[in-house]
Amino acid sequence: MTARADETRPSGGGNLTWHRPAVTRAGREALNRHRGATLWFTGLSGSGKSTLANAVAAELHRRGVRTYVLDGDNIRQGLNKDLDFSADGRVENIRRIGEVAKLFTDAGLVTLTAFISPYREDRALARSLQPEDFVEVHVDADLATCESRDPKGLYGKARAGEIANFTGIDAPYEAPENPEIRVDASNRSVGECAAQIVAALEERGIVPAPDAEREDDDDDEEE
Ligand code: ADX
Repeated sequence: MTARADETRPSGGGNLTWHRPAVTRAGREALNRHRGATLWFTGLSGSGKSTLANAVAAELHRRGVRTYVLDGDNIRQGLNKDLDFSADGRVENIRRIGEVAKLFTDAGLVTLTAFISPYREDRALARSLQPEDFVEVHVDADLATCESRDPKGLYGKARAGEIANFTGIDAPYEAPENPEIRVDASNRSVGECAAQIVAALEERGIVPAPDAEREDDDDDEEE
């Protein structure tokens, strides 16, 4: 069994005080002219989470939305470089990212997280930290598709026994049962999936409709 850190860890031994910030989330959101939220992408390695998160971020950025992508491969080379791919390592990886995403939402950003996040319980924990602002996006590509793409050559290595605990091969992936958004990443292009996600975010009022003025401005820009 994995230890979900939140259940086991003391919280400062009762000697911590919560400081009220001078600048509030509401103030930052008013300045940004959009709300903060977390789009939590989950799916197998090679499903296209990072590519899609970046495509959606680029479109939101174009619309004047402040975004930040947190990507598993990148975060594991910095903040989470002490964590492995054991069940416990993944639990802690997702716990930390859940907390970071919550901070970024409070900072007024639309954060896009691209982590396999294979365990339902861990995604539920991340959601519980910010239930009003959490949008789960299942990047649904089946194992055969991901394995045939094998963009990093890791499925080949896992099949050859060179990598242990590889998700989908000898480590589990628990697909979401009720994600807010599900994209069919086996059969649809990145552009189609990104457009579906952006439309769903517009419907939820997270993202403003394209701003005609801004688009005119973009046309005038030299770079
Ligand atoms: S998670 O399971 O803890 O959420 P995370 O998204 O951070 O995983 O990292 C996944 C990426 O790490 C994969 O896309 C792949 O490039 C790389 N990786 C290296 N080893 C493994 C492994 N054993 N299982 C899955 N991904 C791995």
